[in-house]
Amino acid sequence: MKFYIETYGCQMNVSDSELVRSVLAAAGWEEASAPDEADLLLFNTCSVRQHAEDRVLGRISNEKRRKLERPGLKIGVLGCMAQRMGKRLLEEDTGIDFVAGVDQYRDLPRLLASESGISNELDPLQIYPGLQPRHQDKSCAFVTVMRGCDNFCSYCIVPYVRGRERSLPADDIYNEVRRCGEEGRKDVTLLGQNVNSYRYGDTGFPQLLSRLDGIDSIYRLRFITSHPKDLSDGLIDVMAGGKRICRHIHLPLQSGDDTVLRAMNRNYTYEHYRGLVEKLRKAMPDIAITTDIIAGFPGETDTMFDNTVAAMRDIGFDYSFCFKYSPREGTVAASLPDQVPEEIRLKRLQKIVELQREITLEKFKAQIGTEIEVYVEGWSRKSNRQVSGKTSDYKIAVLSGGEKDMGTLKRARVVRATAGTLICE
Ligand code: SAH
Ligand code: SF4
Ligand code: F3S
Repeated sequence: MKFYIETYGCQMNVSDSELVRSVLAAAGWEEASAPDEADLLLFNTCSVRQHAEDRVLGRISNEKRRKLERPGLKIGVLGCMAQRMGKRLLEEDTGIDFVAGVDQYRDLPRLLASESGISNELDPLQIYPGLQPRHQDKSCAFVTVMRGCDNFCSYCIVPYVRGRERSLPADDIYNEVRRCGEEGRKDVTLLGQNVNSYRYGDTGFPQLLSRLDGIDSIYRLRFITSHPKDLSDGLIDVMAGGKRICRHIHLPLQSGDDTVLRAMNRNYTYEHYRGLVEKLRKAMPDIAITTDIIAGFPGETDTMFDNTVAAMRDIGFDYSFCFKYSPREGTVAASLPDQVPEEIRLKRLQKIVELQREITLEKFKAQIGTEIEVYVEGWSRKSNRQVSGKTSDYKIAVLSGGEKDMGTLKRARVVRATAGTLICE
């Protein structure tokens, strides 16, 4: 019997799908390389914005036709939508046979043996002990260090669908990172909704990072996502002194306006955030800072939005993931009075996307003529004599090379740049 899994949403879902593969493999399932070879179709879903949910529902309604050609085919929904609306999905005529929530993947074999069903209790202790993820990428790996989120930013569904924060044992993480390196995955990204609030016993995030930095089998260590309110001086020191820790931090700002930040329940001001950026750049002049920005949060006036635009110029992020606010049922922000009309949200989004494109292009162009180090991950999309990979500061680079360069560090000189790629020699 074969399964096929499609993953949506953030890296946490990518990582969870690797756990699901492991559960299914242990139960005797093989992975299909295409949906039409599968006896079981799984969708690991995201609820963070309406658009994410609509996309996967569209996909499922397309795929359910396969049931006519392939009797016995089962469709299952995993992840954050299973959590948020699992019961509704089963009741409506969606073609979905079962749903399994984020803390119930060990229950999959039982669910598959029954006719249909639902298993989506949140389990505040679930960390999947002893379950080794089946990493999919040949050269890079995600390693989950904590699950859940306690921050309750007022716009965000994640704390409701992912439950409370819990950290994995530091020793287990150490062993997993070492194993990744030994298997050739030398670029490891630690994952958590809020990694810098990691705590297991006496080990906080800076201590964990510092310990993992000593693992010889890996070249590079990254982590996402950091919350500005928990970014400590201790963490900055560990990053600056690290041997393998990358020169990159993803630090979501969300808004450059203090009134909006307060309404978002972010627990910092723009000034505080600006101070963090200064500290980071002072300790590591070559650090890349990337962020997330939401346009059109309820109550955001033109002036407040202008503060975000000014902040983006002021800081000069290497990259920003920009989103249009999407109301999520059950969150505080969804019931705030002054929802911003869709056209305005869209116009604001377009403005910051364009602004960021210009800034990113400048940042990439500034590296022309410099020598960089690239971890080669695969073939370049354009040519079979060129390979591509990432720099320590999280920029995609292409350079000439071949099979023997995969999974190695290469030095190269940047000769040209676009707003997304460093072209090297
Ligand atoms: N834990 C991470 C990631 C959260 S989801 C963090 O705190 O940074 C990734 C991004 O999606 C968020 O940073 C935010 O910018 C965006 N986001 C979350 N909820 C949203 C919503 N309702 N509408 C629009 N964007 C949203
Ligand atoms: Fe959502 Fe905020 Fe938690 Fe990030 S920190 S997952 S934005 S509630
Ligand atoms: Fe989406 Fe769930 Fe991640 S809502 S962003 S897949 S935690």
